[in-house]
Amino acid sequence: MELHILEHRLQVASVAKESIPLFTYGLIKLAFLSSKTRCKFFSLTETPEDYTIIVDEEGFLELPSSEHLSVADATWLALNVVSGGGSFSSSQPIGVTKIAKSVIAPLADQNISVFMLSTYQTDFILAHDLRVNLEYQESYRWRLEKRQEQDLTGPAAGPQLTDLTPLPGPPPSPQCSSSPGLSILCLCALTVQRPVIHPLSSPSNRFCVTSLDPDTLPAVATLLMDVMFYSNGVKDPMAASDDCGHIRFFSFSLIEGYISLVMDVQTQQRFPSNLLFTSASGELWKMVRIGGQPLGFDECGIVAQISEPLAAADIPAYYISTFKFDHALVPEENINGVISALKVSQAEKH
Ligand code: ARG
Repeated sequence: MELHILEHRLQVASVAKESIPLFTYGLIKLAFLSSKTRCKFFSLTETPEDYTIIVDEEGFLELPSSEHLSVADATWLALNVVSGGGSFSSSQPIGVTKIAKSVIAPLADQNISVFMLSTYQTDFILAHDLRVNLEYQESYRWRLEKRQEQDLTGPAAGPQLTDLTPLPGPPPSPQCSSSPGLSILCLCALTVQRPVIHPLSSPSNRFCVTSLDPDTLPAVATLLMDVMFYSNGVKDPMAASDDCGHIRFFSFSLIEGYISLVMDVQTQQRFPSNLLFTSASGELWKMVRIGGQPLGFDECGIVAQISEPLAAADIPAYYISTFKFDHALVPEENINGVISALKVSQAEKH
């Protein structure tokens, strides 16, 4: 298991539903005409509140500067954990569950605010204030391997492993000793209690997490444009309102040539049946939405509050942060158990 720090410098932005026509020229280029741009990282997620755009600096240039584009003030770095395909790979849990103890908890322990984007292919952890260098990556890899063992075997009995021993890897270079990012090197296995702070809700939609061969994108481009920009509740607010907890949620990403789509089953049924890849088991996912008031970008530990209990119970989960709220997707058969476990954690706060 290796932690990669990707070279993209990412912006996180929001567009109000009614302002989306101002941005479709650029968004269509980013999603469907990627050969005409230098963008390598693009994601667009529609929620009931807004559209969230995550895009690298090259892609950001395709969007008009406008008062209708709210941009989170930091530039974000993307971290990505790649499994080495070693002996663990067959039994590995997917998504945030796999990286809860090794990456998400240590970042939260170090008060680093993250922004998550799970895709069909992998999980991106966006972080700011994380000044990192190659030595850091090297030594972090060793620690990740130890953490990975913990993720798979569960917490060690007795005292927790604390990683305060000197690094076996190359020592950090002097110019980064003042860097705040290096403090994550002390991946102390803090057994902190992390109660769920924000209100939770679960819409009635059932979701699938799918992918598409980029070569077949032209075949579904008009359908995707319809789904992304014209199928929206704004046009028909009456229909959207009393639909027993059904929400609008659709996520498209094109990252380093890989497409990932998260959609509900109603939307999936609009696609030709053989085009979308799903995992062999074809499982469906239910959503836990996190947040009452918009969550902002500075608070730490929200992803950890949700992903640590899921990891402890070995429940796979995807996790998608949007401009205002967070969203965890868990297998539909686990949703009731997950909600009650998280509610217990919430109650323990008091
Ligand atoms: N910063 C939060 C954390 O570190 C997750 C993102 C919440 N904010 C948001 N706008 N979705 O856990």
